[in-house]
Amino acid sequence: MAVERTLSIIKPDAVEQNNIGNILAMIQGAGLEIIGMRMLQLSRAQAEGFYEVHRDRPFFGELVEFMTRGPVVVAALEGDNAVARYRTLMGATDPAEATEGTIRKAYGTDIGENACHGSDSVENGKIEVGYFFPEYVLR
Ligand code: CMP
Repeated sequence: MAVERTLSIIKPDAVEQNNIGNILAMIQGAGLEIIGMRMLQLSRAQAEGFYEVHRDRPFFGELVEFMTRGPVVVAALEGDNAVARYRTLMGATDPAEATEGTIRKAYGTDIGENACHGSDSVENGKIEVGYFFPEYVLR
């Protein structure tokens, strides 16, 4: 199985509700390795750039507003099949549809405020890790 990297973002709602430690514990409990991590408040330009693929969606403005309202924790995760494993751990985008034992079931509120982000493909994992951790791209 291939070693992959994926980007996790603990979103402002989860940071506000003091769930950073709980979510990191779930990530580590699932056997995903945290190879880089930092806490920052996204600028509007950073959030718009990160979610560029969603620019034409009706929720884009709301998404950028939410993602910039407070600090986030970005983490580069590594492991066998890390992209799919982290997506399974996060659960469905809408917390109402997320299954028991997932991050969004435990800590998400609704489809907008859903506690965490994870890359949706191996290719995007590389791009998104590079967006916040350019020093890890070539390792
Ligand atoms: P994320 O995995 O960060 O990728 C894009 C985000 O857009 C997604 O999680 C949701 O938080 C958000 N999103 C998707 N659909 C909607 C929606 N209908 N309304 C508001 N936000 C949404």
